[in-house]
Amino acid sequence: MKVQVNARNKGHQFDAAGGDSVLQAGLRCAVDLPYECGSGTCGTCKARLLSGDLHDAWPEAPGKKYLKQPGEFLMCQCSPATDVVVEVNNFVHATGAGVCVPDAVKGRLTGFKQLTHDVAQVDVELARPMAFDAGQYALVRVPGISGYRGWSMVNFGVQPKRLRFVVKKKPGGGVSEWLFSGTPVEGVEVDVYGPLGHATFHPGIGKNLLCIAGGSGIAGMMSILSRAVQDGYFNRFDGDVFFGVRTLRDVFFLEELAAFRREAGERLTITVALSDEDVPPEAQAHAGVRFDRGFVHEVAKRSMDGRFANLRAYIAGPPPAVDHSIRFLLLEARVPADQIKYDKFS
Ligand SMILES: Cc1cc2nc3c(=O)[nH]c(=O)nc-3n(C[C@H](O)[C@H](O)[C@H](O)COP(=O)(O)OP(=O)(O)OC[C@H]3O[C@@H](n4cnc5c(N)ncnc54)[C@H](O)[C@@H]3O)c2cc1C
Ligand code: FES
Repeated sequence: MKVQVNARNKGHQFDAAGGDSVLQAGLRCAVDLPYECGSGTCGTCKARLLSGDLHDAWPEAPGKKYLKQPGEFLMCQCSPATDVVVEVNNFVHATGAGVCVPDAVKGRLTGFKQLTHDVAQVDVELARPMAFDAGQYALVRVPGISGYRGWSMVNFGVQPKRLRFVVKKKPGGGVSEWLFSGTPVEGVEVDVYGPLGHATFHPGIGKNLLCIAGGSGIAGMMSILSRAVQDGYFNRFDGDVFFGVRTLRDVFFLEELAAFRREAGERLTITVALSDEDVPPEAQAHAGVRFDRGFVHEVAKRSMDGRFANLRAYIAGPPPAVDHSIRFLLLEARVPADQIKYDKFS
């Protein structure tokens, strides 16, 4: 099928094949269409159908609440049933040089490991390598469950063939409940589409780093820390990581975070924020990792007081943690909006 996108600045044409959504087809052809979640919740990818027919894979998608005008649809959920012409009320450019262009690739689940009572680590072995930037995510679709789930990569490497993810169990959630159900998942074939996401880190940014993660939002921060530590970034810049969980039993990756700190030295600080309990004495056993009591955005605000200059902030996790963090960074810390990068796990 042929897709014509009329954007505010110019028109773009590309082919969509094999049930690709309009968004996936455009991005893989290096047309930088607007999106955030890639999975039907945020509404950022809305467009208007001018001619042709679409197949809507998820008519109940929550992101539809952002559609107001007749003919509007979500590009991440709709695939062309005929040749289509659509209108996007944004400027749309070709994907910039050096940006990783996403594509579809087959993968196999492997190495499932439970990290806490409700968080697990799972790897996907890809049929071919996927280059991605630190901080990006991929869409993963498992057999028998409709739709893709966005998961942020934990690892970082040059053209890796294995992607590592952490997945938090969501009560009643299709894929996460399946992963935790005890059904053997080793070797299960999955569809992967990626890399996606704009909250990327590259050593060339040349700014102090502030990372605020709620729960499984620490995933992308691990990738960013890997990249930064590999580069010796914290010899030149400060890094402050805040990892919010409810209680000590919800913490994971402590050893890995402590190892980053050992390798990076004193300019990297790691703080775990416990929202639902005072810091228990046994928390002190983890050298190099500080513990504090409070919601992660409050702990970050307290600890960073007066250190917001020349800063790039990364935020990830559940929408409330992300929204509170963005609000204090913009309104109180006066961090410029273009230096706040985030992923809402909605
Ligand atoms: C950018 C981004 C990065 C994320 N990174 C992580 C991460 O690293 N770790 C983590 O645990 N979670 C992450 N999430 C959240 C994750 O994508 C899932 O929402 C979460 O794992 C719950 O999935 P579930 O299948 O258990 O729950 P469900 O409630 O079954 O599904 C949750 C999401 O899946 C999609 N979905 C559900 N049903 C359909 C359908 N019929 N058709 C199409 N799509 C459907 C929707 O996006 C929905 O919000 C991320 C989300 C985003 C947007
Ligand atoms: S990108 Fe389509 S709804 Fe978020």
